[in-house]
Amino acid sequence: MQSILGIETSCDETGVAVYRGGSGIVADRVYTQTDHAAYGGVVPELASRDHVRKLPGMIRQALDDAGLAPDELDAVAYTAGPGLAGALLVGAATAVGFAAALGRPAIAVHHMEGHLLSPLLDADSSLTFPFLALLVSGGHTMLVEVRAVGAYRLLGETLDDAAGEAFDKTARLLGLGFPGGPAVARLADQGDDERFEFPRPMVNRPGLDFSFSGLKTHTRQLVARVDRADHADVAAGFERAVIETLVIKCRRALKQARLERLVIAGGVSANRRLRSALDVALPGRVYYPPPALCTDNGAMIAHAGWHRRHEGSSDGQINV
Ligand code: KG4
Ligand code: ZN
Repeated sequence: MQSILGIETSCDETGVAVYRGGSGIVADRVYTQTDHAAYGGVVPELASRDHVRKLPGMIRQALDDAGLAPDELDAVAYTAGPGLAGALLVGAATAVGFAAALGRPAIAVHHMEGHLLSPLLDADSSLTFPFLALLVSGGHTMLVEVRAVGAYRLLGETLDDAAGEAFDKTARLLGLGFPGGPAVARLADQGDDERFEFPRPMVNRPGLDFSFSGLKTHTRQLVARVDRADHADVAAGFERAVIETLVIKCRRALKQARLERLVIAGGVSANRRLRSALDVALPGRVYYPPPALCTDNGAMIAHAGWHRRHEGSSDGQINV
């Protein structure tokens, strides 16, 4: 069975993993960079340098975990984009160089394709093609029709901020740390989500695109006129508005594309309230990646690389 090494360096997580056909993920190491917190966001130059520092040791550790010698690898997959240019280059150069030294192919993987296929990594999942994927991360909000590996059609996307970005910006407005999503979600747990009214952007217009920048402006204006004691209610109202908007668009897309199953992936898919809202709206029809694989990791890249080698073309494009 083929073993593929996966390398992810698109942002502030260094991920290295091994996927083996027939066994699944046999090694999975993720290092989350911490230096960025002091700056309130990811600093590209620091991210690139940290990837350089961490990658060689993590590759050695992942191979040890998998019980493999380097020349037992069949290919090296890496995140080709989208992401921070310098950070991506570190992963690409490492993967291409390592693959060349081994005389094996290097496989370019689209970051969002890694997220998109990650629910298939759950061995107990009954997920089959075709399905609709809602990809919600710090950089993207996309609805994609997935017919097979490599057969993707973009149905809708954000016209401005991504859903995760809206969480991160709201966190900053509320004086919370980075990354903002989990911090806003924790504060929202203590708040009343009905106290303040928030818009549900673009739900009354036909179509499947999203827009979150108006919500951010609304939040900024609201924060300016309330007390600190009201922040939990602001977080809860904001979170609910994002979630309801996502749920409405998912239902609409499933209907329009005549699809039954919904996959949700990307960092925001870790949000507990989003999960329960989707489970209520679409009982038995929603599939998630295993929790540890919601945020960026090398496992999803190794896995997508394996599928590309076996089923799809190897051009690394998400064809949307
Ligand atoms: O997929 P990901 O790890 O990296 C990108 O490709 O962007 O997603 C990171 C994003 C961040 O914006 C973060 O705030 C958000 O996912 N996020 C969450 C939660 N956990 C992470 N947003 C809402 N609720 C969460 N629990
Ligand atoms: Zn991601």
